[in-house]
Amino acid sequence: MYKIFNTVDEVSRYTAQRLFDQICAKPEAILGLATGSTMEPVYAQLMQYLEQDPVDVSRLTTFNLDEYIGLGPEHSQSYCYYMYQHLFNQLHIPGERVHLPDGTAENAEIACQAYSEAIQAMGGMDLQLLGIGTNGHIGFNEPQTPFDSRTHVIELTEQTRIDNGRFFTDQREVPTHAITMGIQEILEAKEVILVATGSKKAEIMAELYRCEVSEALPASVLKIHSNATIVMDKEAAALL
Ligand code: GLP
Repeated sequence: MYKIFNTVDEVSRYTAQRLFDQICAKPEAILGLATGSTMEPVYAQLMQYLEQDPVDVSRLTTFNLDEYIGLGPEHSQSYCYYMYQHLFNQLHIPGERVHLPDGTAENAEIACQAYSEAIQAMGGMDLQLLGIGTNGHIGFNEPQTPFDSRTHVIELTEQTRIDNGRFFTDQREVPTHAITMGIQEILEAKEVILVATGSKKAEIMAELYRCEVSEALPASVLKIHSNATIVMDKEAAALL
């Protein structure tokens, strides 16, 4: 379940290879995708594999994990913008097969319901990619989010807003709420890969390694998943 590599590059190659293998094995796969700095080299590596060995991606479907409420696709810190920048501008999946929660929906609750229904209609994810927050969140499922949650609106914790403030010019610009896929939807994925790199993740990874399954540490839910891999570089694994 745990895989530790020396470098970020090795972590990214391993993860991208798993994604690539999934796409080759099942061209109509449903992929759950994540954002964050951890995923940037993973997507770059995946594009390299696809350039070396082109595969038909026109039948893939993707669902992104989360989006800030209030940020539209044109906002440089929206996850929609991130995904086009780092993946979708190069990986040409038909637009109607690309799903991202709508951070500017007039009624966020209705948008969540529709997103969740779309995931269920597709039968859930074949492969779900996850990063992790320094407080153990997955997607934007903050500590104490019920394990049976589906896509919902969440209030971001102060810790998350501070952590993610590095991407905004001013801390006050960091949105207070987000839409996130729920833990139940993550748990229903056939395969899950959580990726953590860098020394900033060392403490939470040690805690995750040792803890019991508990809503206090959302990523601990992966301990009850039958096919979850936790991939780390040696910096993130330093306190294990
Ligand atoms: C955000 C996202 C998470 C992501 C986390 C870690 O809070 N909502 O999905 O896993 O950041 O990001 P990074 O990879 O930049 O450390």
